[in-house]
Amino acid sequence: MRKPMMAGNWKMNKTIAEATALAQAIVAAVGNEESVERVICPPFVALPAVAAVVAGSGIGVGAQNMHWEHSGAYTGEVSAPMLQGIAGYVILGHSERRQFFAETDTTVNRKVHAALAAGLTPIVCVGESLEQNAAGETHAFVSSQVKAALADIDAAQAQRLVIAYEPIWAIGTGRAATAEQAQAICGATVRGALAELYGAQVASRIRVLYGGSTNAKNIAEIMAQPDIDGALIGGASLQADSYAAMVRTTAATYAAH
Ligand code: PGA
Repeated sequence: MRKPMMAGNWKMNKTIAEATALAQAIVAAVGNEESVERVICPPFVALPAVAAVVAGSGIGVGAQNMHWEHSGAYTGEVSAPMLQGIAGYVILGHSERRQFFAETDTTVNRKVHAALAAGLTPIVCVGESLEQNAAGETHAFVSSQVKAALADIDAAQAQRLVIAYEPIWAIGTGRAATAEQAQAICGATVRGALAELYGAQVASRIRVLYGGSTNAKNIAEIMAQPDIDGALIGGASLQADSYAAMVRTTAATYAAH
């Protein structure tokens, strides 16, 4: 049985004071919604403050990126050991990292290995561009991204990670994929790739999220899909009321997959 996850990706938003206030409001609103795995991912500098706010609430904290090496001459980077004890999760390979910071399938794979070795839960992002979608390349591209990100990850490790399918054309555009489109890629493509790698039984235990313009209005329909186990939420996670509404809707409507 896959526990639903609502993960908020705050991106480069919120000062430490603002992040603290938002985390406090989220704890007050959905601290008790234990049937949903709630994860909030503030900027690095706010991680300690947010971790202190959510301590004991059951809400998890995630980073938005990390380096694959433990330490060294990598100016501006943060490693998995530095996140240990503060964050339980880490978003890896977000399309904005791939697009603006030259992340590749190879570096994402290194990060997945490093995160798992450190006991962090990776939220591994995949998704096609508008051009790829229009050219009918979505299935092949997303499938190859999943397989590349999970290269040399064994079945036991794979069950400790989460995949987030985020079509680039849906991120921050207000134009979410339809529930049917999201189900088709999360199911046949992402879970299909996981089944090719690990077999259907293991694939059925790995959570697959959808991300891209999810909000309090469209989340019920998205969460009703059999292969969608949660959402990676950008804009709508920056306000406690919309994030809380999405958690509550999921708690009320998700039929355990
Ligand atoms: P969005 O972002 O919900 O604002 O579209 C999702 C994401 O990039 O994770």
